[in-house]
Amino acid sequence: MNSDATPVRIGLIGAGRIGTSHADIIAKRVPQAQLVAVADPRPGVAAALAEPLGARGVTSPEEIFAAEDIDAVVIAASSTAHAELIVAAAEAGKHVFSEKPAGMSLDEIDLGREATAKAGVAFQVGFNRRFAPDFRAARDAIVAGKVGSVQLMRSLTRDPGTGPASPGDVPSWTIFTQTLIHDFDTLNWLNPGARAVDVLATADALVRPDFKDNGLLDTAIVVIRYDNGAIATAEASFAAIYGYDVRAEVFGSGGMVTAGDGSPTSMRLFDGAGRSAQFAQGDTELMIDAYTGEFAEFADAVQQGRPPSVTGDDARAAFAIAHACIESFTSGTRVAI
Ligand SMILES: NC(=O)c1ccc[n+]([C@@H]2O[C@H](COP(=O)([O-])OP(=O)(O)OC[C@H]3O[C@@H](n4cnc5c(N)ncnc54)[C@H](O)[C@@H]3O)[C@@H](O)[C@H]2O)c1
Repeated sequence: MNSDATPVRIGLIGAGRIGTSHADIIAKRVPQAQLVAVADPRPGVAAALAEPLGARGVTSPEEIFAAEDIDAVVIAASSTAHAELIVAAAEAGKHVFSEKPAGMSLDEIDLGREATAKAGVAFQVGFNRRFAPDFRAARDAIVAGKVGSVQLMRSLTRDPGTGPASPGDVPSWTIFTQTLIHDFDTLNWLNPGARAVDVLATADALVRPDFKDNGLLDTAIVVIRYDNGAIATAEASFAAIYGYDVRAEVFGSGGMVTAGDGSPTSMRLFDGAGRSAQFAQGDTELMIDAYTGEFAEFADAVQQGRPPSVTGDDARAAFAIAHACIESFTSGTRVAI
């Protein structure tokens, strides 16, 4: 971070659950960024979020794109709106940070990659696990050769609670395109230089079997093979009763590295009941430093005029695995990527 540089002026699009957390983090934890405006079509919602943080609320993303006092946008709107918003932001000359997925298909993701490249603006995607200190340290160890050649990998995401509030409203394939997409990117990133070649996906509705006929998939395991020989599993559940659980493990010829233990701090309580750790009840609690780190990276990249370290190419590579999972689940066979 260059402390003399002018903060990057941010317009946030989408003031829902994660947008609320992102606004707070950008305003309070990222000195190289300034939250200027928040847009959300729900009346009054953007202003209620923005004003206490010293920003303005608007109801239309177009007002963000047209604003001369905004350099960059952070897109935290619903996933189906991402691709269109990325393209519109780029065409307005704004740097773009988009939550995952960067589109709902490979074609949509390509539209965003092309528009941001053509406009010459930064384009970063919200794979926040790359900025979690323990995941970063794990990757540094892998890059330094400390686990030798990578052979087995695993990454998992278990959402906290007892399952989706409205299981009938979960869009098809969410477990692959919106949940496991984090694990696919994490595995790609923890296996530097390697490319995923094929997948075999198994999934079911074990949390809410009563919604299986509606197409709900709430539990999944995916086996991914890489061109350096590594074999990976990615695993997800929509209902971990004990809290938000995000972990990774890489095993190689020289050793093993692990990241993530579900605890927001390393505090352990020793009492008459034994040893216990506090467990995080959600992503915004467990991953607060990771979210802070990803916005610091975005602002640094904009200030320095360089591409961010997580790109549209990474968004495409992770989505390509999700896309192959849909085909594999449907056909019951291993599918090439
Ligand atoms: N990286 C992560 O850890 C992480 C975590 C949670 C959510 N997400 C992603 O963030 C996005 C939002 O998730 P959420 O849980 O906050 O959802 P949400 O439903 O709580 O909020 C979405 C918000 O977007 C607004 N919106 C919809 N269309 C819009 C548009 N065209 N322009 C502006 N605003 C629009 C809605 O009014 C709503 O306020 C999703 O894409 C999700 O995949 C990422």
